[in-house]
Amino acid sequence: MKFRKNILCIGAGYVGGPTMAMIAYKCPQYKVTVVDIDAERIKQWNSDNLPIYEPGLDEIVKKIRGRNLFFCDDIEKAIREAEIIFVSVNTPVKNYGVGIGMAADLQYWEKTARQIRDVSDSHKIIVEKSTFPVKTAQAMERILTSNSSHVQFDILSNPEFLAEGTAIKDLEFPDRVLIGSRMTESGLKARDKLVEIYANWVPRERIVTSNIWSSELSKLVSNAFLAQRITSINSFTAFCEKSGADITEVAKAVGMDSRLGPKFLNASIGFGGSCFKKDILNLVYLCRYYGLVEIADYWESVVRINDYQMRRFVLTILGAMFNTLAGKRLCLFGFAFKANTGDTRESPAIYISRRLIEEKVELVITDPKALANAMKDLKELEGKISYIEDPYEASANCDAIAVVTEWELYSNLDFKKIYRNMVKPAFIFDGRNILDHEKLFEIGFNVFPVGKPALTHFE
Ligand code: NAD
Ligand code: UGA
Repeated sequence: MKFRKNILCIGAGYVGGPTMAMIAYKCPQYKVTVVDIDAERIKQWNSDNLPIYEPGLDEIVKKIRGRNLFFCDDIEKAIREAEIIFVSVNTPVKNYGVGIGMAADLQYWEKTARQIRDVSDSHKIIVEKSTFPVKTAQAMERILTSNSSHVQFDILSNPEFLAEGTAIKDLEFPDRVLIGSRMTESGLKARDKLVEIYANWVPRERIVTSNIWSSELSKLVSNAFLAQRITSINSFTAFCEKSGADITEVAKAVGMDSRLGPKFLNASIGFGGSCFKKDILNLVYLCRYYGLVEIADYWESVVRINDYQMRRFVLTILGAMFNTLAGKRLCLFGFAFKANTGDTRESPAIYISRRLIEEKVELVITDPKALANAMKDLKELEGKISYIEDPYEASANCDAIAVVTEWELYSNLDFKKIYRNMVKPAFIFDGRNILDHEKLFEIGFNVFPVGKPALTHFE
């Protein structure tokens, strides 16, 4: 079959896979290829067990794989054939050298840019899909134009705003698609070609265009605002626990102000995920680079309060259980950084597990989708943790349950049955406020929500 365009995505991860699946699904007239240096990951994308769990993704991929969506590991051939290349490689925080723990590690996109330059023999539009520091497009241009060939490249910034767990919905009905370009004739032409792809299913008024630096910065600012909002509500949880106020009631009252809105006000053990922390630290690093110390400090405090919230959760458990956890059995309900994903990157559960083991807890972890990743994350603690998928079995003979991920299945469990099989006094720490606390208290549990007074049977 003859396709109208050849689109390529370099990086078959949480963004590259679902994003390209959506483009291919909505645009049968285009051939969409996804490549990765990780051949194993490509093999999984071509199998019945996709490398990531995302509601709705399996169905779409199975419908269009082999029709106009292809996963392969011949990167050079794919680059040569493509007209439009999305770069969706990882941009983790540097764990070495200058900017350690703060700056983005740019080695992955740089390698990709060099490979594109070396292999290309015709005009290409390069689309930044990964989250990059502001001015990455300029660095990319410099690399792409640094050899003697006269191949022309146009760079666009098209950051991705999907959230894991709702990626398919977010891709199908995005609040907005942002495309940043150079304001030159060829930059604007390239931008229009990308607009044309999204216009296949996204209403035109939701496709926003801007200059390229605004686009790069908007992605970092969006994540900073979202993370700040969670930190803002979380910062009042300790206050609520001390004062008798209830954070859910406070969030409802605050969120009814139409200027603020009700979303993203769920108090928690802190935000996790591969991006919020990394993107804010990256922003902080950029601010310091430009000498904007006060602004850097302001945004860094969002991460500091988030770390405090995770620490506070463990201290609450310790304090409630008579200041010793040694030899007690505790079950974590959930390990993923949020519900409906198997992703555990920067999950608060990792920190919480390590701290609990330091306190000599016998730890049991249950999660419907994230146990394989949990085992990898906590490899150094092998033999000290039990991993059990069934929550009833996992919590049996435990002194306490700590809800770490807001999986819906946990709200629908038979807690009478769970209580019967636990050591008494039995404790529940609801780090996500998803359970019926009054009912648990009536069953006999000592209940510790986040940002609400505890319900205990002690004098
Ligand atoms: P990921 O680690 O799941 O995927 C990145 C993939 O790129 C990996 O499979 C890796 O093997 C591959 N890769 C690295 N270097 C390569 C190279 N030179 N050639 C070919 N493949 C290469 O990461 P992700 O979660 O998909 O995130 C990718 C980017 O998107 C990041 O910048 C992230 O900040 C951003 N982002 C992520 C999300 C999300 O929900 N995960 C949402 C929006 C934006
Ligand atoms: C987030 C953003 O929501 C996406 O727009 C963005 O594209 C993405 O980061 C990215 O750049 O990677 P994601 O991290 O997948 O998406 O998931 P979120 O729904 O934002 O949740 C992040 C964390 O905050 C989770 O740990 C979640 O449990 C927590 N959270 C979220 C709360 O504690 N309270 C809330 O009210 C909402």
